[in-house]
Amino acid sequence: MRRLDAVRRRLSDLQLDGVMVTTAENIRYLSGFTGSLGYLLIGQETAEIVGDSRYWIQMEEEAAAFTLVRAGASQGLFALLVDRLKALQWRRTGLEAQNLTVDQYERLGGGLGDGALLVPTRGMVEELRIVKTRDEVALLRTVAGIAGRAFDRVRQAIRPGIRERDVAFLLEQTFRELGADGPSFETIVAAGERGALPHGRASDRVIDSGDLVVVDFGARAGGYNSDTTRTIVVGTPTPEQERVIEAVRRAQQESMALMRPGVTADAIDRRARETLAGEVHAFGHGLGHGIGLMVHERPFLSASDQTILQAGMVITNEPGIYIPGWGGVRLEEMVLITESGPEVITPASSEVGLA
Ligand code: GLY
Ligand code: MN
Ligand code: MN
Repeated sequence: MRRLDAVRRRLSDLQLDGVMVTTAENIRYLSGFTGSLGYLLIGQETAEIVGDSRYWIQMEEEAAAFTLVRAGASQGLFALLVDRLKALQWRRTGLEAQNLTVDQYERLGGGLGDGALLVPTRGMVEELRIVKTRDEVALLRTVAGIAGRAFDRVRQAIRPGIRERDVAFLLEQTFRELGADGPSFETIVAAGERGALPHGRASDRVIDSGDLVVVDFGARAGGYNSDTTRTIVVGTPTPEQERVIEAVRRAQQESMALMRPGVTADAIDRRARETLAGEVHAFGHGLGHGIGLMVHERPFLSASDQTILQAGMVITNEPGIYIPGWGGVRLEEMVLITESGPEVITPASSEVGLA
């Protein structure tokens, strides 16, 4: 269990006796358990999974390397967790600061008493998830491929008269037909002036001739997510539409060329903004994000992230220009960082000028 070994090394570094893992994606990553609720307790000699009866069989099947601690009907799951932690007698117990509620924190503190110290940790498991294994990359290619094929099937339907929400429905239906478990997030379809909403939810708006349509979609399978954005012109693009699309495309190309080992995340974001030059005020969000078990995970291509890129990371590149009252353009690819540079793993499709 290389992943558990890595956690145990971090426990030694941080002088922790153990850590309680509560983030569902981290639990899945470390144990294989895919249910919606459960807790992992990991110490140098400990690998336990605490769960309620809905999940006992599934936990035994999926998390075979972990000792299953069962909560009975008469005892709440969290109360059992406190009991287990008491029995383990850890003096310094790591918590996932980004995930535990204040209520849980207070209940743990009250239950364990003064001798036990609760130590917030940040990103302990997320740091491991940042570089993908070969199997994870294969899954990401699979989901990106499904989403790309679904888009190719559905794009002919993006014509005057169809509603945004119908396009979203067709895409999500096609993901499933092609073998996905479902969408990675609520599919975004934002036509005309609604394209100025970077995360415009697909609405009843009817798509019209001349609209720019931003379509942002992802498929999910085996726990892994994809994330792609295409911007379509319904009809023949106007010179202004062409100019904005070209500006976004250039920002993507220039910044993507930097997506190689050794470059810091913030430098890539900065390059996209430099390329956008006079339009940069219309680009409010970060350039991209890591993707895997979560749609948004480390590293973040933004001014505040100095992570040095390494081979094996998978990161989106998604510049956009959003103009209130006019619309928007965003182009988004998933990029695998390799020793020899960026490799786009989202399938190509030509976005512009759909009649
Ligand atoms: N679809 C969400 C994003 O692009 O980050
Ligand atoms: Mn997206
Ligand atoms: Mn994205």
